[in-house]
Amino acid sequence: MKALVLSGGAGTRLRPITHTSAKQLVPVANKPVLFYGLEAIADAGVSEVGIVVGDTADEIREAVGDGSRFGLDVTYIPQDAPLGLAHAVLIAQDFLGDDDFVMYLGDNFIVGGITALVEEFRAERPDAQILLTKVPNPTSFGVAELDEAGVVVGLEEKPKKPKSDLALVGVYLFTPAIHEAVRSIEPSWRGELEITHAIQWLIDGKRDVRSTTISGYWKDTGNVTDMLEVNRSVLETLEPLQEGTVDERTEIIGRVRIEQGAKVCGSRIVGPVVIGAGSVISDAYIGPFTSVSENCRIEDSEIEYSIVLSGSSVTGVRRVEASLIGRDVEVTPAPRNPSAHRLVLGDHSKVQISS
Ligand code: DAU
Repeated sequence: MKALVLSGGAGTRLRPITHTSAKQLVPVANKPVLFYGLEAIADAGVSEVGIVVGDTADEIREAVGDGSRFGLDVTYIPQDAPLGLAHAVLIAQDFLGDDDFVMYLGDNFIVGGITALVEEFRAERPDAQILLTKVPNPTSFGVAELDEAGVVVGLEEKPKKPKSDLALVGVYLFTPAIHEAVRSIEPSWRGELEITHAIQWLIDGKRDVRSTTISGYWKDTGNVTDMLEVNRSVLETLEPLQEGTVDERTEIIGRVRIEQGAKVCGSRIVGPVVIGAGSVISDAYIGPFTSVSENCRIEDSEIEYSIVLSGSSVTGVRRVEASLIGRDVEVTPAPRNPSAHRLVLGDHSKVQISS
């Protein structure tokens, strides 16, 4: 069995923090969301992985390398334009050969991995197996319709009037039967070869398409509340680590991960918290469920239940909560006189000021 991981796309989507970079590299607890997918694939005993890359190929290659760090053997498959998930299967045909494969969308996060699913598929070998989850906003997803017996009877991509609230999760298991399907379908109204249509083609041809419904699922939809929540749930499972330096004036409580070259002095850190490599925390309070990425500076400030991305600084500010701070951002107090907020905010920023 092989894996096909989709990390293409244009990288221009207006997410809160992925204006220009690959959305598959959005960090969750300081680790790119794509890495959780690669680890889940390795855990499931699959080692030959093809990664489909597009405009952001360089960034993805730099982050993943040859895959050996994950115990994987990675082949990169360039896609000229994001012409759809089924198009990605089409161009990966040489790599996939006649093997069964798991297709994994690089911007999806599945709590608990995919090992049980892959084992079930290996044992039963239906023509295809899809994953479903209940979502509050089915119009943003592929949506499945099941009959009374729970068998998938129809799939629609981003329907205006969804027939259920069961969204297609970005993990699919296929036998080589999918290759004929992706060759047989036409582009959708959005100009993409949809995997949803290819699976519908299998259903229409009376092939065996099965579904499993799961709960822990997340995808970067640009929703900060969801992102803080997935960060929290991953931090819940954090293994403590002390690779940086911590002085005696610092109090560390609970599970805290301090990565290489990070320095903490005169601070109180209440886990679960992760402090990225090279970051400096001084005279600060870092509260539960906070991820501070690498090379940040948090000084004379209090921050809790938040995500701070690389190269940012928060100095002399209390108190920051439930916040997502992007890369290379500076947060400082305004001068006392005149008493005013001074803001330099990028496109699509959101600020809540307590005044
Ligand atoms: O995330 C689940 C959803 O993913 C499913 O519910 C939908 O049925 C499915 O069509 C897909 O919807 P999206 O429109 O949200 O997919 P997106 O364009 O975000 O692409 C998903 C991943 O695949 C992402 O990591 C980028 C990559 N990709 C996408 C396209 C269209 C490629 O590598 N090549 C492509 O051509």
